[in-house]
Amino acid sequence: MVYGIGVDIVSIDRIAKSLEKESFIKRIYGADEIALFVSENKIKTNSLAANFAAKEAFSKALGTGVRGFDFDEVQILRDSLGAPYFKFGGRAQQIVESKKLECKVSLSHEKDKAVAFVVIEVK
Ligand SMILES: CC(C)(COP(=O)(O)OP(=O)(O)OC[C@H]1O[C@@H](n2cnc3c(N)ncnc32)[C@H](O)[C@@H]1OP(=O)(O)O)[C@@H](O)C(=O)NCCC(=O)NCCS
Repeated sequence: MVYGIGVDIVSIDRIAKSLEKESFIKRIYGADEIALFVSENKIKTNSLAANFAAKEAFSKALGTGVRGFDFDEVQILRDSLGAPYFKFGGRAQQIVESKKLECKVSLSHEKDKAVAFVVIEVK
């Protein structure tokens, strides 16, 4: 059964500016995302912008907005074929597990915009 859906669109330029601040990266992204998308000489801005959209889309699919959990507890990683998937930690993980939710995400980016669409099902 579908529990909720959520969509979000972000300006890649706006996220790129925020990514100049280490405090933003640490507050918004988890360790696995940082390992995947941030290296000393390159930051994968498009993917990090899409991930930001996915965190907000997830919060809309839950129906709460970003409340009761932190952004860095909702990580969006990529499988061996490049498909995105969620990895939850902390309070976000508790919400997902207690409600027995299955969360799916799709991402896209073009020019200055990145978009994420999330579907949450009840297992
Ligand atoms: C819910 C949330 C993610 C909306 O995102 P946003 O980028 O502010 O705004 P968007 O334009 O993408 O989305 C707005 C729409 O979200 C929807 N929305 C608002 N609250 C919602 C909720 N609790 N559940 C589902 N959808 C919701 C509404 O349809 C709204 O459109 P409307 O104003 O026409 O009704 C936002 O309120 C939130 O929780 N943001 C996190 C706050 C924060 O900490 N930001 C700092 C990050 S650096």
